[in-house]
Amino acid sequence: MRKSVKIAGLSIVGISVLLLSAFDQPKNNFSNETPIYELLKAFGEPMPKHAPASMNEEIVKRGRDLVFEGRTIGPNGNKSKYISKFYTCVSCHSPIQEDPNLQFFDPQARLDHAAKNNLKFLQGSTFYGIANRESWYNDDYVLKYGALVEPASKDLAEATQLCAKVCSSGRYLENWELEAILAYYWSNQLKLGDLDLSDTEKENLAEASTGSNSEMVSLLKSKYARKSPATFGHSPKNHRKGYASIKEGNPENGKKIYQLSCMSCHQEGGVSGISFGQTKLDFKKFKRNIGKKSNYNIYDIVRKGTYAGQGKPRYMPLYPEERMSDQQLEDLRVYIEQEAK
Ligand code: HEC
Ligand code: HEC
Repeated sequence: MRKSVKIAGLSIVGISVLLLSAFDQPKNNFSNETPIYELLKAFGEPMPKHAPASMNEEIVKRGRDLVFEGRTIGPNGNKSKYISKFYTCVSCHSPIQEDPNLQFFDPQARLDHAAKNNLKFLQGSTFYGIANRESWYNDDYVLKYGALVEPASKDLAEATQLCAKVCSSGRYLENWELEAILAYYWSNQLKLGDLDLSDTEKENLAEASTGSNSEMVSLLKSKYARKSPATFGHSPKNHRKGYASIKEGNPENGKKIYQLSCMSCHQEGGVSGISFGQTKLDFKKFKRNIGKKSNYNIYDIVRKGTYAGQGKPRYMPLYPEERMSDQQLEDLRVYIEQEAK
């Protein structure tokens, strides 16, 4: 008698342990590493046009080679031609996450993050999560360049071709090259762990029903910027006084900009044919030209860039305000003035 009660007691414990562990398991098996499009797909969102039809490691590697080195070994076993003689994509675009919070384009948060992690601070937006954006060459790029960028603003493949040919002073990509770069973007997309989700939101995601679920799609999409905004700034009205709205510059910050941004292209052997360094003489030249009609006027060079002209295929892209704020430009100025003394 005593024996059978014990057995019954044990088995009740056993069953409840089993039941409990079944409840403990989240309904959906997502992890921090799950790519965002995998989640969106699970919640019924159609995949974008730029989703690769087929993808494997070899194709992704080709894409990565093209982005980092400008060429790769093609499907026919031969070395491909350089996309550009002057730049690689990473001369102007960072390949890894650059905004600490993906919802905001805050150039100061980005600069601090870049300084902490020794990243570049560049005119082009990052390739990390570029596949998760839904429009490209936005705002003032469309306003200013119109028909040239219109198709590119709606299609990542077109945007890539435009940049390979025009921004890179290079050539259009062959189909296999374009597919490889798109596959590389796809492999470099945002992951669940990158999003700033509260514990409750994480639980909701884990327990949400899959299939068409617009609530979960909206939740996910609210956690990252779906385009990289671009507002073209202006030089201040009075160059000597600087921007009227800005009280004073911070030279420490200006130093970060000079080193992580300007020097990344202008140091000896950088992508610009014109190199400068960090000597008093270099800073004096910049200081002397503030307010002058000169390429060395930092306000004009930052806000307008330079143009590729005949016999001069290299040019410097402008920095939109989202890529360098007016405050940061004043920071650069006071740094230059301080070092020129
Ligand atoms: C000389 C600088 C430069 C080079 C080299 C360059 N780009 Fe760009 N690219 C830019 C700038 C500036 C923009 C517009 C700002 C931005 O990134 O959104 C841009 C935009 C883009 C965009 C649209 C991004 C968006 O979200 O709006 C894509 C895609 C792109 N480039 C791909 C490439 C690829 C691929 C290469 C290499 C084959 C390349 N770029 C080389 C400067 C460059
Ligand atoms: C993505 C690369 C890149 C970055 C970043 C960059 N530049 Fe340039 N810059 C160039 C290129 C390319 C040229 C065109 C000159 C050439 O190489 O033929 C140029 C031209 C210039 C010139 C004109 C030189 C002349 O004699 O005509 C100045 C001055 C200059 N840049 C300053 C800056 C400053 C200041 C910064 C930082 C705020 C900066 N650049 C950031 C690539 C870059």
